[in-house]
Amino acid sequence: MSKFMEWVDARFPATKMWEDHLSKYYAPKNFNFYYFFGSLALLVLVNQLLTGIWLTMSYEPSAEGAFASVEYIMRDVEYGWILRYLHSTGASAFFIVVYMHMFRGLLYGSYQKPRELVWVFGMLIYLALMAEAFMGYLLPWGQMSYWGAQVIISLFGAIPVIGADLTEWIRGDYLISGITLNRFFALHVVAVPIVLLALVVLHILALHEVGSNNPDGVDIKKHKDENGIPLDGIPFHPYYTVKDIVGVIVFLFVFCFIVFFFPEMGGYFLEKPNFEQANALKTPLHIAPVWYFTPFYAILRAVPDKLMGVVAMGGSIAALFVLPWLDRSPVKSMRYKGWLSKIWLLVFCICFVILGVLGVLAPTPERTLVARICTVLYFAYFILMPFYTRMEKTKPVPERVTG
Ligand code: HEM
Repeated sequence: MSKFMEWVDARFPATKMWEDHLSKYYAPKNFNFYYFFGSLALLVLVNQLLTGIWLTMSYEPSAEGAFASVEYIMRDVEYGWILRYLHSTGASAFFIVVYMHMFRGLLYGSYQKPRELVWVFGMLIYLALMAEAFMGYLLPWGQMSYWGAQVIISLFGAIPVIGADLTEWIRGDYLISGITLNRFFALHVVAVPIVLLALVVLHILALHEVGSNNPDGVDIKKHKDENGIPLDGIPFHPYYTVKDIVGVIVFLFVFCFIVFFFPEMGGYFLEKPNFEQANALKTPLHIAPVWYFTPFYAILRAVPDKLMGVVAMGGSIAALFVLPWLDRSPVKSMRYKGWLSKIWLLVFCICFVILGVLGVLAPTPERTLVARICTVLYFAYFILMPFYTRMEKTKPVPERVTG
């Protein structure tokens, strides 16, 4: 074996890569629960790719055949039902995992210097993930697939001057048709997954260049032993590879429970109107995107003007991109930040959840008012951040990681 590895290493940096990223990548020893979600995101990504490839083998990307081919997968293709449920539940699981992963970043200031690019690559992943989920949702060609896409694509129509031409260009037709389905299929199955994979590689390369943050937000590279190894670091392999397996097993228990017993999740993971074939002549009474888009959908609806609504929705995602430059705190982790930061993070999270709930429900004047208040607070979290992170009194940060 060692002779073989010598031969390989003379031609390809296999051992070097193994050491740089696993056996000699020193990660802080105090990773907690929140640090499971990075490896879980990788797991769900692999699940989506594998089940997606197998679904593609029996799926038909045409307006005439798509809906029936999904039913065929569910009823006739051997193990087709499990492939589909793994993929549809996997989409929601992906967002749950990624939201927890992002929340960890907010909690421990993982986006702060020197990890700005890790965060920006993460945000690009998030954008690609939203595009991937949106286009995938059209493929079953159900009522919600059709009308959801109709609502979202028509938003581009609010853009002055080019709006109308742009929507036609996206659809490839005067209305959503088999042509739209075909291009969404190509993008969902080939183009966006390639972009996603490339971004994940960049995300991890950027992280390994600067090293992982940790719940204390202290730099473990400040204290090294005589061999240059961080005193508070442990090799990622075997310590965290083994620890991450614990997270994987717990996750798989929950995930499989949902896949086997509640794959539709009461209409939240697979919406009820989507069990009816797309019909361009019949608008569903209430159109709502899947739960993971609803906070942004609620922001869109909270603004009376269509164009301004689109701007607000875009702004709510854009604000996350520039987060590393809004946080002026001298400390990273919420453990040592002042109470203003803590309260604002809490307000932000509560508003995000409330907006998510409101985005699922049909609008009423009272709900619109609540959505407006939450939208204002959502933006206030970002706009006021440079001020409250500067003003507040922080706690002293320990030299070494605690516990
Ligand atoms: C497909 C989606 C994603 C995958 C597979 C992924 C993967 C990973 C992995 C494996 C790690 C190292 C382990 C860990 O710290 O948990 C990591 C760290 C990180 N990720 Fe992601 N990630 C994804 C999406 C995102 C998104 C959407 C964001 C934020 C916008 C993000 C921000 C971060 C940050 C800031 C770190 C460093 C955390 C720290 O050191 O404390 N990631 N990611």
